[in-house]
Amino acid sequence: MLNIITIDGPTASGKGTISKKLANKLNWKILDSGSIYRAISYMALKKNLSIFNIQEILLLIKDSKLIFKDSKIFLENVDISQKIRTEEIGSFASKISKFNNIRKVLIDYQRSFYTNTGLVADGRDMGTVVFPEAKLKIFLTANIEIRIKRRFNQLTKKGVSANLKNLAKSIKDRDLADINRSCSPLIIAKDAYVIDSSYIDSDKVTNYIFNIWMNRFCCIK
Ligand code: DC
Repeated sequence: MLNIITIDGPTASGKGTISKKLANKLNWKILDSGSIYRAISYMALKKNLSIFNIQEILLLIKDSKLIFKDSKIFLENVDISQKIRTEEIGSFASKISKFNNIRKVLIDYQRSFYTNTGLVADGRDMGTVVFPEAKLKIFLTANIEIRIKRRFNQLTKKGVSANLKNLAKSIKDRDLADINRSCSPLIIAKDAYVIDSSYIDSDKVTNYIFNIWMNRFCCIK
């Protein structure tokens, strides 16, 4: 078993915030796997590719020069961390992520983020497919209305304009697509702890996960 805490769940369930807080608390590395799918989507959209150009997208992945540093993501030395956060990119990411050949080429890359120190990995299939040998698996969720509001606030805070109605539709469509795809769907790993973050703040959720880790898994080889 590996020193990994996986945090899977639907969009805007708090995965990103809680993963960062937990990684800081433990002094571990972090993998935001959604940002990989988003960065690929950013590259594809920049080249005017559509989800029907999967072979071209696969080539993009092969040739891409993505670098993760200090919680930022760089493409050819340009910081694209904020540019990939739009709902348009999230939606494209959800569409390309249903293809098995895309997911397959990304597995080793995602696994390469692991070091002995420890890793907090967030996404949709971290505990089920990418790191099934993780010691602690969390499935984080929150009710749909709260998730829509959270994403709306996140976007507007960053100065990204968002239309609440369109955002709600996109998030609901994305949930359905991520849950129902045949390849690595968003499901609860059988050995996962399920946490509903609807009415609990991120510090409390982080402490709750931290305590499970310290009490149950920290010293198990
Ligand atoms: O977590 P996010 O919203 O940044 O992810 C964007 C999309 O990427 C999500 O809707 C589906 C896809 N994704 C995935 O299929 N598997 C992952 N491990 C992470 C993200």
